[in-house]
Amino acid sequence: MEFVGNHILSVDQFDRQDVERIFAVADQMEPYALRRRITRVLEGAIMSNMFFEPSTRTRVSFGSAFNLLGGEVRETTEVKASALAKGESLYDTARVLSGYSDVIVMRHPEAGSVAEFAHASRVPVINGGDGPNEHPSQALLDLYTMRQEMNGRDRNLDRLSIALIGDLKYGRAVHSLCKLLGLYENIRLHFVSPPELEIPADIADDLVHGGHEVRTFHNLEEGIHDVDILYVTRTQEERFPSQDEADRYRGLFRLNESIYTEHCEPNTVIMHPLPRDSRSQAQELDDDLNQNPNLAIFKQTDNGVLVRMALFALVLDVVDEVDNHSQPVTWFTAKRHQLS
Ligand code: CP
Repeated sequence: MEFVGNHILSVDQFDRQDVERIFAVADQMEPYALRRRITRVLEGAIMSNMFFEPSTRTRVSFGSAFNLLGGEVRETTEVKASALAKGESLYDTARVLSGYSDVIVMRHPEAGSVAEFAHASRVPVINGGDGPNEHPSQALLDLYTMRQEMNGRDRNLDRLSIALIGDLKYGRAVHSLCKLLGLYENIRLHFVSPPELEIPADIADDLVHGGHEVRTFHNLEEGIHDVDILYVTRTQEERFPSQDEADRYRGLFRLNESIYTEHCEPNTVIMHPLPRDSRSQAQELDDDLNQNPNLAIFKQTDNGVLVRMALFALVLDVVDEVDNHSQPVTWFTAKRHQLS
């Protein structure tokens, strides 16, 4: 795809070459994300970070990524703090905000809403998650982390085997990730969920038609055997028609150290898009796995900054200028490294 000046709304926009391009630019961003160098390539640019649903990782890492490239960030974090609460349309909001910004990141609870907003925007819009539909930047950072983990095992992403566990119906990160995995060769996917929360049929069908192997499991212990990666997800309670219905699935599938040790190969990578639900009745990913050397969840969150820096650099056409506008660390960042 042509990145410059375009919206990033769905992983359907990418082919394998596009994904590899994003990853190459993300690799280039590492010294800046680690504060070993400073770049001011986006000095004077403004990003509007519009989050109409709760977020920690996506909102803050998009903001940090833009700051690390030298740009400034304006935050709107709730519908009630915006004129949407007074009945303003997404169309008008987009027309207004795009007059104040060079790029907009948006999260919204309704599927398709970010695309609707982007249609009216005069600057690029990046989807930070639209209801149960898609979460493109999460899927990219997940795949980037899988690539790192597999490289450490002298593998690439072709012939990867992965168990996707939990609420596969409403989990937008899983939906986007499955589409990206489909760009690689001979992937084996174990879909492990309650029968009512299975992956949408169109996503599974596309994978089968792409020559990948898809297996469905309704039992955790059976589904996690013989895979390279476990990708655990939270029950997306906020998407269910009622809390009573959501409660039926809470704590149904829990991965912990003893289940992992009994049923998985010793080097099976453990991932989760986060947040994990750490309340006692849920715990889909038990914190007794926190010291497990194969737990990659905080590598995922760190990689979110690199991947989001790459998206900004590509869309705003500054990839080739990042290093030209850079300098060694300041006194403060040098001190920060001494402290850590
Ligand atoms: N993974 C993810 O989207 O996390 P946040 O909801 O905290 O942004």
